[in-house]
Amino acid sequence: MPVTVVDHPLVRHKLGLLRQKDLSTKAFRDLANEVARLLTYEAVKDLKTEKMVIEGWAGPVEVEQIRGKKITVVPILRAGLGMMDGVLDLVPGAKVSVVGMYRNEETLEPVSYYVKLAKKIHKRTALILDPMLATGGTLVATVKLLKEHGCKKIKGLFLVAAPEGLARLEQEHPDVDVYVASIDEKLNEVGYIIPGLGDAGDKIFGTK
Ligand code: URA
Repeated sequence: MPVTVVDHPLVRHKLGLLRQKDLSTKAFRDLANEVARLLTYEAVKDLKTEKMVIEGWAGPVEVEQIRGKKITVVPILRAGLGMMDGVLDLVPGAKVSVVGMYRNEETLEPVSYYVKLAKKIHKRTALILDPMLATGGTLVATVKLLKEHGCKKIKGLFLVAAPEGLARLEQEHPDVDVYVASIDEKLNEVGYIIPGLGDAGDKIFGTK
């Protein structure tokens, strides 16, 4: 499974700021979107362009343009919304497909409670957004759902991933490309990433 740790001074700097205790909601939100923007830059490197001749200031000039409308952004509720603006800054034409999952307390399996996907999603590359790839349960369920709707090219963008979550994704969906700012050390006993960022949803929405 291709895993790209986006190793760039800006990413490392901004991630360091994100890790700070007592960061304001606004600062966390802004930084999460800034890192998401930088991850997107890497994640869409394979977009196809086509050459065309346009009228420039000094006459005809050959330029390149991205072909077609090929991307859907898939924020996983609710924390994934905290990366969406940053991603859409770079791919403003992308459609948004929203997925909400909860965990069934008996089976411990993720169950979708809200799904609204872009039309003809099977023709698009899906960029799944979730700040934290922790156990991987929700992610694996989201990938399965997208595949059931015909998606063939799926990428996941995360601020921080745990080795445990990456291993689970590799086992169940090795065809998903991963872009991440950091692979951290481990999960703790209650499923939080260490050192991680804490509860990313609470920090983005200011609910703590
Ligand atoms: N979700 C979070 O918000 N943080 C973690 O560390 C793990 C899951």
